[in-house]
Amino acid sequence: SGCKLIGCGSAVPSLLISNDDLAKIVDTNDEWIATRTGIRNRRVVSGKDSLVGLAVEAATKALEMAEVVPEDIDLVLMCTSTPDDLFGAAPQIQKALGCTKNPLSYDITAACSGFVLGLVSAACHIRGGGFKNVLVIGADTLSRFVDWTDRGTCILFGDAAGAVVVQACDIEDDGLFSFDVHSDGDGRRHLNASVKESQIDGETSSNGSVFGDFPPKQSSYSCIQMNGKEVFRFAVKSVPQSIESALQKAGLPASAIDWLLLHQANQRIIDSVATRLQFPPERVISNLANYGNTSAASIPLALDEAVRSGKVKPGHTIATSGFGAGLTWGSAIVRW
Ligand code: ACO
Repeated sequence: SGCKLIGCGSAVPSLLISNDDLAKIVDTNDEWIATRTGIRNRRVVSGKDSLVGLAVEAATKALEMAEVVPEDIDLVLMCTSTPDDLFGAAPQIQKALGCTKNPLSYDITAACSGFVLGLVSAACHIRGGGFKNVLVIGADTLSRFVDWTDRGTCILFGDAAGAVVVQACDIEDDGLFSFDVHSDGDGRRHLNASVKESQIDGETSSNGSVFGDFPPKQSSYSCIQMNGKEVFRFAVKSVPQSIESALQKAGLPASAIDWLLLHQANQRIIDSVATRLQFPPERVISNLANYGNTSAASIPLALDEAVRSGKVKPGHTIATSGFGAGLTWGSAIVRW
């Protein structure tokens, strides 16, 4: 069968941190951050905010727009790399939303490419598995894994959630035209948040062990480690290639695309990709000035703003691409 996008929603925490605020905690300034990245503000979780809370808010708005009740959702895909629970966040979201028909729900971990891979998974489940209404949520709270003393990374990230409803439809109405997805574990050295090294190196536990490395130490994760220049290089090379490949699979020229909607990591990456694909700036969606890089949330967050502001209209075609840690990257050509 076909599948189409029928609703979107988003949510951000209320605490706003400006570049000037960051300049009070690390050696940086608004001008440097704005010219190197395009980012001016970001939202950060505080108080009672949680990843699940943001995801539920975004998903509720998407369901309202789609006019689908939670009981009719048969699959919840939670794309996140920062779950509140190591075992996943999707079942908690399913419960909080009141999806009472026991849908399948699970997490997808693919950093900033998570949402695009969520769309791929939704399409596969609908086309091959008979699922009818799939909620795809992209949400991350990377602020909890950022080293707030590292000016090279802490200026980039923000927290948010975004969601879409993908519904089964007749093949003539199909709105998910094509995908092009990749990963490269070799690039992990450029961007990661690993289990702390002393723990994977098998340092013996402090209580003294009679079995060598057993029992293992309890794990925790280090903050985001990034080689910004390498990630930048990877993005401006791989993303245009991937979008071109997705366009080719869809049988569409770039001129048939109404909007270019990239993962919102850096305005210079967005501009470079748009130039390579010869997309005029007025057809490029960008909102990272207000939110920074919100990882798996950035594409559905920007889509939701563009739809609700009337920019993206029913029938418009969108080329979207996510890219980031893994390394992972992937593009989709979709109709709103
Ligand atoms: N404020 C002021 N100065 C800074 C800051 C800062 N916040 N950060 C770095 N600098 C300094 C550096 O120390 C360096 O100084 P030096 O020349 O005296 O050594 C200088 O500015 C240049 O630093 P670079 O790191 O070379 O700056 P660059 O132009 O590469 O910009 C940036 C850095 C913005 C991180 C860029 O490389 C980038 O955006 N890369 C892509 C990152 C990205 O998108 N990552 C997320 C992927 S998504 C995911 O999956 C999580």
